[in-house]
Amino acid sequence: MRGVNRPARLVVLVSGSGTNLQALLDACTDPAYGARVVAVGADRDGIEGLARAERAGIPTFARSVSDFETREGWDAAMTTLVERFEPDVVVSAGFMKLLSTDFLAKFLTLNTHPALCPAFPGMHGPRDALEHGVKVTGATLFVVDAGVDTGPIVAQVPVEVAEDDDVDSLHERIKTAERAMLVDAVGRIAREGITVDGRRVRIGTSAR
Ligand code: GRF
Repeated sequence: MRGVNRPARLVVLVSGSGTNLQALLDACTDPAYGARVVAVGADRDGIEGLARAERAGIPTFARSVSDFETREGWDAAMTTLVERFEPDVVVSAGFMKLLSTDFLAKFLTLNTHPALCPAFPGMHGPRDALEHGVKVTGATLFVVDAGVDTGPIVAQVPVEVAEDDDVDSLHERIKTAERAMLVDAVGRIAREGITVDGRRVRIGTSAR
């Protein structure tokens, strides 16, 4: 990541409650963190994620796929909207849509997934981990590529599965760990840079 702004400019994409977004917003109140959220985008209206951004005085935008005649139309609109905010990094934090290859070519895009990739990709990471009977699962931050939760891994955090966990209790514990991982990794990327070399991702001063 070259030519990064100081503080680094983040556009965050959300589809739901936005607790990961909130963790980033809270971290960004400290100037030493090195990043600021310049806009929050969504694929639907009326979600708590957008309300969190509005309360923080951050510009928002929302576009539903159903507002467009084609999926390509929505893809192009999201790309144009995000481009307007000139992000150094786009963070997809609970954003429930796949992004186009054109979007991914333009922006370094990170996504959080509530499982230890490459295990349990897709919409139901905590449920699938529980059903599989794993004893340890967790969360993964990765660089988004054309696949579903397949991109180069930036950071991971393990979470133990408790014997009496259900999907909600497990997901809530994963989300607590996930937020801390996201805040830590995005801050280090903003301050120190990132290099993606095939599947190997490096954060640090040598990455600039
Ligand atoms: C997170 O666990 C994320 O990994 C998953 O959905 C959850 C979003 O949570 N895709 P929130 O909207 O940030 O609270």
